[in-house]
Amino acid sequence: MRHALVTGCAGFIGSHLCERLVAEGWNVVGVDAFTPYYDRADKLDNLGALDGARRFSLVEGDLNELDLGPLLADAPVVFHLAAQPGVRLSFGEGFSRYTADNLLATQRVLEAAAAAQCPRVVWASSSSVYGDAAAYPCVEDQTPTRPRSPYGVTKRACEDLAAIYRGQGLPSVGLRYFTVYGPRQRPDMAMRLLCEALLDGTPFPLYGDGRQSRDFTHVADAVDATYRAALADDPSGIYNVGGGHEATLAAVIAVLEDLSGREAVLDRRPDQAGDVRRTAASTARAEAELGWSARVGLRDGLRSELDWVVSRRRLLGARSVSESAADARGAGATR
Ligand SMILES: NC(=O)c1ccc[n+]([C@@H]2O[C@H](COP(=O)([O-])OP(=O)(O)OC[C@H]3O[C@@H](n4cnc5c(N)ncnc54)[C@H](O)[C@@H]3O)[C@@H](O)[C@H]2O)c1
Repeated sequence: MRHALVTGCAGFIGSHLCERLVAEGWNVVGVDAFTPYYDRADKLDNLGALDGARRFSLVEGDLNELDLGPLLADAPVVFHLAAQPGVRLSFGEGFSRYTADNLLATQRVLEAAAAAQCPRVVWASSSSVYGDAAAYPCVEDQTPTRPRSPYGVTKRACEDLAAIYRGQGLPSVGLRYFTVYGPRQRPDMAMRLLCEALLDGTPFPLYGDGRQSRDFTHVADAVDATYRAALADDPSGIYNVGGGHEATLAAVIAVLEDLSGREAVLDRRPDQAGDVRRTAASTARAEAELGWSARVGLRDGLRSELDWVVSRRRLLGARSVSESAADARGAGATR
């Protein structure tokens, strides 16, 4: 039986990956610190489908403090997704969090995985390493990496670290994910904010002119690439994972307006520091070496995210009704 350690298991992508691994018959130990970047309750909900799963166990702890030796004792495949994500907060005071959760934590994971002789570490890099490229699409070994944000700098530095440990015999695969979206997308990400704003009829903060574009990647496709990176024979050290659906934010707004039947209220703001104008991935290497290509189209993918936001709201609504009913019963009992 295959076994895996998944860091960041309670996060957006990590929770989907754990579900995939368990469905494929793997034994999975998930590690997560439940960092306060967004609600603990949301992260627990992300793990909902794994609750009680026989082949999944959760270890709550910070990678910078945990004794990783025992967790890696049986030399699992390591999927290292834990990080402090997001570009905007990586400027200023926030940077210390990024150095701790991205750079220092990754160094500890690589060191421990090398000591335990783990067969492979598959880990999350980012399209942010490219910054604003001179030519598109970005190609792994041709496009220079020039991050525009401190977040991108930490991911770029993690790539250098992984290359050093790779040189010393630890097989690793870094995946440059391009804007991942779909059910459970983080609450700070644009599509999620837009879905919530459309449903609430509240303003959506639109930074820049809306013509900035991203190579959007559905989470099912990102997970599939991650899974394949663990199984591939003799993989490269870095792959682009881009959904092949480059679209402007304005186009995404139009599709979500159509799907929701509502008109977005736009709160126009200036460009944000660190945001790049465009991302676009060449996925030729992943196609050739991992046998991977993205399958989920943008409209279907956006529908899956909007449907999830709607059903999450129903669930939270039903929960709060049953909690108030329980409170009322409790209050009655004391009288
Ligand atoms: N979502 C995207 O579009 C995207 C794009 C490029 C790269 N990535 C990378 O993919 C990975 C997953 O991103 P996500 O969107 O699922 O983020 P997420 O915030 O939902 O998940 C990350 C998880 O890591 C955990 N974590 C953070 N620091 C930790 C630590 N020190 N010890 C243990 N756990 C810790 C957090 O509690 C969180 O649950 C990250 O490495 C991120 O940088 C994501």
